[in-house]
Amino acid sequence: MSSYDVIVIGAGPGGYVSAIRSAQLGMKVAVVEGRETLGGTCLNVGCIPSKALLHATHMLHEAEHNFADMGLKGKAPSVDWKQMLSYKDNVVGQNTGGIEYLFKKNKIDWIKGWATIPSVGKVQVGDDTYDAKNIIIASGSEASVLPGIEIDEKTVVTSTGALTLNKVPKSLVVIGAGVIGLELGSVYARLGAEVTVIEFLDAITPGMDAEIARQFQKMLTKQGLKFKLGAAVQGVEVKNNKATVSYQLRKDESEHTITADTVLVATGRKPFTTGLGLDALGVELSERGQIKTDANYATNVPGIYAIGDTIAGPMLAHKAEDEGMAVAEGIAGQKPHVNYGVIPGVIYTHPEVSNVGETEESLKAAGRAYKVGKFPFLGNARAKANFAGDGFVKLLVDAQTDRILGAHIIGPMAGDLIHEICVAMEFGAAAEDIARTCHAHPTYSEAVREAALACGDGAIHV
Ligand code: NAI
Repeated sequence: MSSYDVIVIGAGPGGYVSAIRSAQLGMKVAVVEGRETLGGTCLNVGCIPSKALLHATHMLHEAEHNFADMGLKGKAPSVDWKQMLSYKDNVVGQNTGGIEYLFKKNKIDWIKGWATIPSVGKVQVGDDTYDAKNIIIASGSEASVLPGIEIDEKTVVTSTGALTLNKVPKSLVVIGAGVIGLELGSVYARLGAEVTVIEFLDAITPGMDAEIARQFQKMLTKQGLKFKLGAAVQGVEVKNNKATVSYQLRKDESEHTITADTVLVATGRKPFTTGLGLDALGVELSERGQIKTDANYATNVPGIYAIGDTIAGPMLAHKAEDEGMAVAEGIAGQKPHVNYGVIPGVIYTHPEVSNVGETEESLKAAGRAYKVGKFPFLGNARAKANFAGDGFVKLLVDAQTDRILGAHIIGPMAGDLIHEICVAMEFGAAAEDIARTCHAHPTYSEAVREAALACGDGAIHV
């Protein structure tokens, strides 16, 4: 079995999905993966374990803050950190094991080890070489650490180390107010750590609709997170198991330091293509180290494709999954299409934050006339019942045609609510289409409908 129609390099959400779709389309498929388990960063040390910790600590927050009001009396739970970590590991195990099952079901071979591409049509793993008509690079990304900062994954950690700390730190400094920093920062804040987030820009979550970002920062501040914005981190020094972060405030160039038990470096990620042999093959990369591809995910070298975090676009598991399906369908002769205008983004804090499409800032920059329809969760009966009245739904629609251009939600289940709007956008819907669709009462989804109503003659419950 050393000759394949498709060999996929990397078993993350991009890679395993492209393998399954390729197999479903009748191709003989293998995946090369060097980790002990399938699923890549997302399942092993990213999306999935962080969601387990977010869920557990949210439950703790509910017990501490809302149970008594609901008539649930008793001592607030204490934290057994070892048990919480083993719950997280168990969730990871169930998910990575699930991919192994799917590989067997779809007759996909798992070649264990790290791949190199010695020449077109060949993949080498250890001493073995395999033939591949098509090679899909889905090798993902790694943390992009600021120069001069040394990661030991104990005191100075990336997201990987932050998921396995041997105890809950008393103090945590997070460098970077992006998705990773805020999700993991809120986990540790709920566990009692004093969390300070240092961000280079003057706002958190760059690229997010500014009104939502401001509201989000207020809510996180209320939850105890502290922010130092407009602050450029210059170095981290570790002494006696404590880390001191030095930073400069951009407004007056003043120098500052802050010391903590743990420092989480969350300043972005970069493509991971080390060891693949791309240089020798002549595969073209961008200045940012991303593999250059055409609309069919083909690189400049025949028979070699690339998807997910290794190429341009948002580094999101679901974007990689869509590309994984599309590249397989393209190889099989179909005409797939990924709509990059409708890729949702979600931050799984509490409340959740989600977005799709344009922001007010991007519409202004494009000079496009738009209307805003907003609805607060305080006007939503279900949210009030569930102590989840913070936040709002915001729809951005074309001023003339009412077509939905973007949506931003901060509030309960925002990461699920956004998809109704994604589907509407895929169909080119107007806000009125959502407004005239019956929504069950009492649900959070009614807030989306009310925001759509607010784009027209007005929301009802506000
Ligand atoms: P990010 O790009 O979201 O945020 C990095 C932040 O660090 C930015 O705000 C940047 O301005 C700041 N920064 C950079 N240099 C700095 C300096 N010297 N001092 C202070 N601040 C500095 O990156 P993050 O959070 O590391 O996430 C990496 C990738 O993983 C992202 O593409 C993200 O979308 C993805 N991801 C997505 C998740 C989700 O969808 N829920 C969860 C976790 C990660």
